[in-house]
This record gives sequence, C-alpha cells and structure tokens, in this order.
Amino acid sequence: MVDTHTQVAGPDLALDHLPTPYLVVDHDVLSANITRLHRHLAGAGLAVRPHVKTHKVLEIAALQVAAGARGLTLATVGEAEVFADSGYADLFIAYPLWVDEGRAQRLRQLAGTARIAIGVDSVEAAERLTGLLDPRVELMVEVDSGHHRTGCRPGEAGAVAAAARAGGLSVRGVFSFPGHSYAPDAAAGVAAQEEEALRVAAESLRAVGVLPEVISGGSTPSAAEMGAGVLTEARPGVYVVNDAQQWELGRCAREDVALTAYGRVVSSRPGRVVLDTGSKVLGGDRAGYATGYGRLLDHPEARIVQLSEHHAVVDLPEGLHRPPLGALLRVVPNHVCVAVNLVDHLRVVQRGHPPRTWSVAARGAHT
Ligand SMILES: Cc1ncc(COP(=O)(O)O)c(C=O)c1O
Repeated sequence: MVDTHTQVAGPDLALDHLPTPYLVVDHDVLSANITRLHRHLAGAGLAVRPHVKTHKVLEIAALQVAAGARGLTLATVGEAEVFADSGYADLFIAYPLWVDEGRAQRLRQLAGTARIAIGVDSVEAAERLTGLLDPRVELMVEVDSGHHRTGCRPGEAGAVAAAARAGGLSVRGVFSFPGHSYAPDAAAGVAAQEEEALRVAAESLRAVGVLPEVISGGSTPSAAEMGAGVLTEARPGVYVVNDAQQWELGRCAREDVALTAYGRVVSSRPGRVVLDTGSKVLGGDRAGYATGYGRLLDHPEARIVQLSEHHAVVDLPEGLHRPPLGALLRVVPNHVCVAVNLVDHLRVVQRGHPPRTWSVAARGAHT
C-alpha cells in the first residue's frame, strides 16, 4: 500500500522515561479500528465474534463487546477461563481440542458459567467426545476452506455432526479459518472460496437433519470481503491493532497500526541503526512475502533486515536522516499476536488522558 497518510504522530513522549523495550497501544487508533470493522461487518449482515488471542486483554475485549461483538473467540481452554472469570459468557474455542479428563472437567466448569462451544473436525474425534464432554458444551464442525491446516472436507461436515449427535452432543454449526488469505492479493478470492466451502458444509449438516445456527469464518485480511450470503458470523482478531503483515498486505493503512514496540537506538553507523527491540519483544515471525522482520512506523521506507533476541538491525534508505543514539522509535511487529504474548503489560496512550497500563491477562494461557 502506498503511504498517503501523514497524520501519524511520533512516539508519545509521556513514556520517554520508561526503560525500553515495551509495547504501546494507541487507544484512539484501537477504538477507530474496532468501530470501523464492526460497522462494516454489521452492515454486511454478519455478527462479529473477535478472536481475542490477538490481544489477551480484558479491557480490549470490553471495547469489542461495547461495539457489538456477539461473543469471543479463543484458542485454548486457558484463555476461555481467563475471560469467563471476568464475566464473558459467550465463548467459542475455535480449535479442535484434544479433550482428556482434565480438559473435560475444565470445560464442564466453564459450561456452568458461560455458553461455550469447541471445534471438532473428524468423525473419530466426535465419537471420542461421547461420554467425555459435558453435553452443555456445544460443537462447531471445522472445515478446511483451502488453508490445509485443520478441518474436514466441507462435504464431510454432516457425517461429523451426525456422529456428535448420535453421542448425545449438540452441534451449533460450522466454521473455517481462511489462513491462506495471508498472501498478496489473495483476500477476495479466499473469502469467496471460504464462502463456498461453508455453503457446502452447511448443506451437508442439513442433509443429516442438523440445522446450522452459526456459520462462522474469516480472518483479518479477508474480513472486508465477507458478506452474509452464507455466513452468519466473522471472527477477525488482528484488526483491533493491526501489524506489519496487514500493512504489507495492504489490508490496513499505516495510520491504522495501533500497537508498536517502543525501542531505542543502541548502535549506529552510516545507513544502519540497531534497536533494542529484538525477537524477545517483537516475535520472530517473517512470512515469505514480508520485506523484513518488522517496520518502523515513523520511517516506512526503513526495513528490519536482521533480528536476534535483543537486536533489531534496521537498514535506512539513502537520504533518510539517521536517528541518533538513544532515539526512541516505534517498531511495528510483523505478527502482533506473538508479540503481545511476550509481555506482561501494554502501555496505553490516549489523547487527553495520562498514559495507563493494561495487563495481558491471558498471557501464557496455552493449555
Ligand atoms: C481459528 C481462527 N479464527 C480466527 C482467527 C483470526 O484471524 P486473524 O488472525 O487473521 O485476525 C484465527 C487466527 O489465527 C484463527 O486461527
């Protein structure tokens, strides 16, 4: 995406005294991101169930619910426990969980306080859950819409649903994650492909007498392309704060990036500076299409060309003024979900308010 925005302010100097590196959320940008996408999806006739693994923060979930989110999507039972403890009562763990006695007990407990669903993607897995899963825990059949990670073939969804039903479990509907939308120019085609996969899956449920109440899909790259022809629900996560992946894919503008790592220049030579925002704060993800290990919000032409645990080596294009030693810079992580899970707290800046701190409440809740 061509950078046409010039209104991005520099680092918030009210945070200048803090030891670097640390992660900062711009509340104004965050709120605007939530409002914009929720409005768009509501206008397209879709409910929003944001994936909160992106941020793991109770305060951000509250903003999403206030902006109309129907419930929350989570990746693990541990995340569901954290959000259920804070009163969130409609939770979908969009993952084909391996349920053992311990997880069955934790899910039973969750079902006592929240409406809860989990993923299942094979007849074998559905049969295994019989007698193990509390029948109050509903199932969502996961289908593979082209990402080729988890999920059964769309036409097999009915058999999975029938097996669950036969075991006394209830099936809420079907879902997919179109992870292959993470490629240049892929979003529109992938959204259409996902819609077709979910149409076939929903039909396959109906053919065995199961009415899909929820037909759920989406990712951040594909969210703007989704419509309600087949789907009833969208589950984007990254859209709240965005990251360098969304920026590079053209799925957000520079001014829509709400989360950055603040770091300082620790070493400098012509054409190059080194920041203290290494992989231990940015995460190490670098997709095939990425032009670096992260971007600088205030110098879009610069690239992080090398990353180690405590060093981010930045190549500066010719003509760019070299930031001096000690300069405070804002780094956009490639993949924000990974970066957030590396810190205990996010610093929050908001126009007209003093800085504050949010806890990454579900940090490390991986089981
Ligand atoms: C099952 C599932 N649903 C929804 C999402 C959210 O998509 P995104 O990260 O593109 O916002 C993810 C992300 O990995 C996911 O795995």
